Amino acid sequence: MSTPATSLSPAELQRAAHDHLWLHFTRMGGYAESDIPIIVRGEGCYLEDAHGKRYLDALAGLFAVQIGYSYGEEIGEAAAAQMRELPFYTNWSYAHPRAIELAAEVASLAPGDLNRVFFCSGGSEAVESAWKLARQYHAARGERRWKAISRRVAYHGTTMGALSINGIAALRNPFEPLVPDVLHVRNTNRYHRPPEESEEEFTAFLLEDLESTIEAAGPGTVAMVIMEPVQNAGGALTPPEGYWAGVRDICDRHGILLCADEVITGFGRLGAWFGSERYGIRPDIVTSAKGLSSAYAAIGAVVARDAVMEPFLEGSAMYTHGITFGGHPVQAAIALANIEIMKRERIVEGVAERQDAFRATLAQLLDLPIAGDLRGTGYFYALELVKDKETRESFSPEECESLLRGYLSHALFEHGLICRADDRGDPVIQISPPLVAGQAEFDEIAGVLGDVLAEASTRLG
Ligand SMILES: Cc1ncc(COP(=O)(O)O)c(C=O)c1O
Repeated sequence: MSTPATSLSPAELQRAAHDHLWLHFTRMGGYAESDIPIIVRGEGCYLEDAHGKRYLDALAGLFAVQIGYSYGEEIGEAAAAQMRELPFYTNWSYAHPRAIELAAEVASLAPGDLNRVFFCSGGSEAVESAWKLARQYHAARGERRWKAISRRVAYHGTTMGALSINGIAALRNPFEPLVPDVLHVRNTNRYHRPPEESEEEFTAFLLEDLESTIEAAGPGTVAMVIMEPVQNAGGALTPPEGYWAGVRDICDRHGILLCADEVITGFGRLGAWFGSERYGIRPDIVTSAKGLSSAYAAIGAVVARDAVMEPFLEGSAMYTHGITFGGHPVQAAIALANIEIMKRERIVEGVAERQDAFRATLAQLLDLPIAGDLRGTGYFYALELVKDKETRESFSPEECESLLRGYLSHALFEHGLICRADDRGDPVIQISPPLVAGQAEFDEIAGVLGDVLAEASTRLG
């Protein structure tokens, strides 16, 4: 890697960052006496900071950089060509070639008749747009339905609608009153369920909870059920056998639209283009962002079944929603270039081929006394940390604070590994590398995690 292109020295960058840059979801006071990490370049699965130190990015940006960091030249060419031809035009009443081509491409990759694509700028906007679409879909058919149902501990974004959908109370509470009405149902975390419960019983238990929540809400008032194919927050919570078929059936029986939030799972992370395909979900709406452009552009999409668009195709009907930058031609050109690279380099097939090796490598960590459960699939994993492996007892909030924030996050970064120590649910380490990672990266991830978690166990006594 060559020297950074910025004209500011590392010290000048630090000063300017401290003086002006407001970081997202960051305790800025935590940097009062210390350096803000400044990432200046990337290559493959690796990042480099302002001091030239390298990190293995085992979080793919934020579950987003599918193709890794080395395609800037090629994608930059596509962006520059689009800039020359048409730097911007809007999707408000107009189309342009890149938005059309990208919509057709996404429709061809999405399963079933998910053929109608509405672009936006990211995941929160996609979720926001999906809820509004669901409400208006029912209204266009003469029904007043407005409620959304999501799962506890699930993260779905930060705009007011998407925030209201979140199942994480600590994120919602500061902003109440929220958008009415969201009901939260159980997620698919099985680790803390009774050990004698069979998978079939667990599925029945979850579906009974969903059904009774809908009954209590008044089925005719519920517009949408929104869930991730594999839930990220809480730690890569995979569905038990029969779960998605059951959710689909309940939605069908009550006339509720099913939205699969594929902001993370879309575009290859689970070893298929969409998680919906992998699990046979058959959603009415899919929300996506992140991997659509491998995060080389700020673009998201809502993909709807033909039937969902139908009420909007007649007379004066209109989906009363729009965003200036939705379908931005440069962002669309970048997403198209990303998909072309993903196809050419067989990125999704590569995940399917290497995912067993990845799991097997990570599974070695289960020998550690602190490592309770390894969950996930594809390139999407979480390791749950426990105080007592026998009883599966978790850490107290104070212990989480000192373990995750006080030690682990910092120690992993010091050891040159970027992954996330997260306690929005039970404490987990999230591991989601770029989809180009191979055995060398798997070994490095497991090696660093093994060392740091062994040290954490020792510290905890
Ligand atoms: C499942 C899911 N939905 C929505 C979002 C929000 O996406 P964004 O941060 O692009 O607004 C995220 C972000 O991580 C997500 O994981």
